[in-house]
Amino acid sequence: METKIVTIDKLDSPESVEEKLACAGGIIRQGGLVAFPTETVYGLGGDALNPESARKIYAAKGRPSDNPLIIHIADMAHLNQVVCEIPEKAQKLAYAFWPGPLTMIFKKAAIVPYQTTGGLDTVAVRMPSHPLASLFIKKAGGYVAAPSANLSGKPSPTNARYVVQDMDGRIDMIIDAEGVEIGLESTIVDMTSEVPVILRPGYITQQMLSGVVGETDMDVTIYDSSSALAPKAPGMKYRHYAPRGELVIVEGDPQKVVKYINEQAALHEADGKRTGIIGTQETLSEYRASSIKNAGSRSDFRVAARQLYTFLREFDDEDIAYIYAESFADKGLGQAVMNRLLKAAGHKVVQV
Ligand code: TXA
Ligand code: MG
Repeated sequence: METKIVTIDKLDSPESVEEKLACAGGIIRQGGLVAFPTETVYGLGGDALNPESARKIYAAKGRPSDNPLIIHIADMAHLNQVVCEIPEKAQKLAYAFWPGPLTMIFKKAAIVPYQTTGGLDTVAVRMPSHPLASLFIKKAGGYVAAPSANLSGKPSPTNARYVVQDMDGRIDMIIDAEGVEIGLESTIVDMTSEVPVILRPGYITQQMLSGVVGETDMDVTIYDSSSALAPKAPGMKYRHYAPRGELVIVEGDPQKVVKYINEQAALHEADGKRTGIIGTQETLSEYRASSIKNAGSRSDFRVAARQLYTFLREFDDEDIAYIYAESFADKGLGQAVMNRLLKAAGHKVVQV
């Protein structure tokens, strides 16, 4: 299949943007697949109400079909169409955080095919804030099922270059545009229980959620790799975001962390093995290795969130065999960064 790559930039007139997105929306209506930017990561979109589109999405990603898709909407009124009931707390969260990087789980309505929900009676819904995503969804008919636009097992793509790397020849169109600012996937909250449960941490933090609806819980399987329980978000059970090199997170006093990482890096490099480091503004100048990445200041996790997946892909491109990452405080957006980093590392953490 030939994949059409359509670039939308600031110089495009509103009419030209409208025309390009109408074309992309038409592909979705006809059962095709289009990758599009959102404020979190690129999505791989298909018609959420068409079982055949869901099948194509799983095939393009190489993803197990028991892993449910998120339905993206652009109009608050459309939520009613795809869910059975909207609990009051969900209404409050929608008013507070939609459009934005929040996905909520509801009991599904009959029109949502089981192919979209991976056989579940619940459905995940999100209303993205990226203006092009919003217009694209409208042109596509209002209901776009979209996982992240990466091959299964690769980091979610935060720029079109990585979407092309993974999806060229597998889907109908890729929309290349700016505005993928957050860099980690949306926060997922299960609204089907009395106390909302966070299934995947993201930019909308537990503190922000609790500020609107009071008590919230965190799915225990998010941090506890030894838990025998299955995660409630089926996708969280798969090994994710794994770089080819062996990734280890190093925790402890910052000076000890730097010393330990430099010692390990020196050993590997002496052995001819290229080593990568994810450091922070505060420690960066002290590191010595083949590839050193700057995850921003330790007092602001936004850079780490935005760059993490790019770093992981770059380490692969740079043929890095060993990777050491500093750890990030388990609070606010740091929770989401740590959650993805732990998954990428297969939970390998060294205390120094
Ligand atoms: O930011 C995002 O959420 C991005 C952009 C494209 O919107 N999408 C995304 O989709 O990350 P995906 O498919 O890569 O991750 C969706 C996660 C999976 O872990 C899946 O198991 C979970 O959501 N999920 C979907 N429906 C669910 C349901 N009914 N119950 C529990 N978990 C669900
Ligand atoms: Mg994904």
